[in-house]
Amino acid sequence: MAVMALKCPDIEVVVVDVSRPRIDAWNGDHLPIFEPGLAEVVKARRGKNLFFTADVERHVADADIVFVSVNTPTKTRGLGAGKAVDLAYWESAARMVADVSHSGKVVVEKSTVPVRTAEAIEKILAHNGHGVEFQVLSNPEFLAEGTAVGDLLCPDRVLIGGRDSAAGRNAVQTLRDVYARWVPVDRIITTNLWSAELSKLAANAFLAQRVSSVNAISALCEATGADVTEVARAVGKDPRIGGRFLDAGVGFGGSCFQKDTLSLVYACECSGLPEAAGYWRQVVAMNDYQKSRFVRRVVSSMFNTVAGKKVAVLGFAFKKGTGDTRESPAIDVCRGLLGERAHVSVYDPMVSEEQIQRDLAPAAAPAKARSRVAVARDAYEAARGAHGVCILTEWDEFRALDYRRIHGGMEKPAFVFDGRNVVDAGELREMGFVVYCVGKPLDEWLSHMPAAA
Ligand code: UDX
Repeated sequence: MAVMALKCPDIEVVVVDVSRPRIDAWNGDHLPIFEPGLAEVVKARRGKNLFFTADVERHVADADIVFVSVNTPTKTRGLGAGKAVDLAYWESAARMVADVSHSGKVVVEKSTVPVRTAEAIEKILAHNGHGVEFQVLSNPEFLAEGTAVGDLLCPDRVLIGGRDSAAGRNAVQTLRDVYARWVPVDRIITTNLWSAELSKLAANAFLAQRVSSVNAISALCEATGADVTEVARAVGKDPRIGGRFLDAGVGFGGSCFQKDTLSLVYACECSGLPEAAGYWRQVVAMNDYQKSRFVRRVVSSMFNTVAGKKVAVLGFAFKKGTGDTRESPAIDVCRGLLGERAHVSVYDPMVSEEQIQRDLAPAAAPAKARSRVAVARDAYEAARGAHGVCILTEWDEFRALDYRRIHGGMEKPAFVFDGRNVVDAGELREMGFVVYCVGKPLDEWLSHMPAAA
């Protein structure tokens, strides 16, 4: 919305949220999320044509277009628990829009939703009691965290789905005109509602599947002596495959890949397509395998026990460039290590101690876990006295650390488990480290340890 305000100075953009503290943060000096370049955009337009307010109903009532961007988490209980999307926030937002509107509006699905959600939304909006007409559009967001501002300024595509009626086409045109102020028209794709809704799930499932595919190959590389970086490079040179998004690692994280792939699984199941559901389910299963395989590798390398040993964890965010930890593989890896009774010392340049402790505290015994989780101010502090270092986020600063200094302060043998393939393994081995890199030929040392598969 901030980028839209930047690119459309004649449009008034009002961001509303029921959480007053969050709105206060958006109006203050410290924005509630870290996203490179976003603060500059917000500051450029705030108070001019970009406003943040908790006065939700008044501003929704006044609007011509309402973008609904509420949370759509995975259901934790009831029908479809663990796979289906919880639309409770969406439903209450739609009911509120219906209640307060005295003029027609275009209601835009910005949150990622299951295919055919628009139909349910239309039914709720139809009961508004003021005789107001609504048009529901699907306009999924394809930005990635850490590059959000650039992705929005220069999107690969903008997707708008709407009803194939005169009013529907009109609504699509209205939204198209907004984006056309800065996006070349050949990048604005218009489709029917269901195609737009499904395309977002499909895009994320394809991306997740690519990462799971290269991670599956990484396991085979370790077993055979092939190098996954070399394989990915050779494979990616085929333009039909392409070289991007083929980095093997400790597994994908983030708020979208797992949730959207599971939502696709659920949609297939509900449509009576168990084979299609099973195909996509395996993408998530492969990701779980990659995370637990990493933990097993750490434990088996360190003489099959990490109990009472300090393990440094460098990086906790689900990728570099963000402080977001949602579904971060670091959470599962740390939980796995804590389950083996290790002491973990975590350092991440963008994630707060409270967040790390919250993510790692088991619901049952939070205090107990806290006693074995420390949060360090830098990588050197995290690694001091540790038996092993696990790199779980590809922050650039981890490439440039003084590993000789780190080695000097560690217990011996000193291990580095590089879950993101950021270090120069050869150099580290010369310093005396035992090094594991995902999908790379194993050290003499590691290849003699019991199989971690
Ligand atoms: C993703 C999609 O890219 C975006 O289009 C969509 O709108 C939202 O979901 P995001 O979750 O921000 O964006 O991150 P992304 O860059 O896609 O990375 C997701 C995860 O995959 C990260 O944990 C990342 O480390 C991992 N990944 C990515 C790999 O392990 N290897 C790769 O080659 C690429």
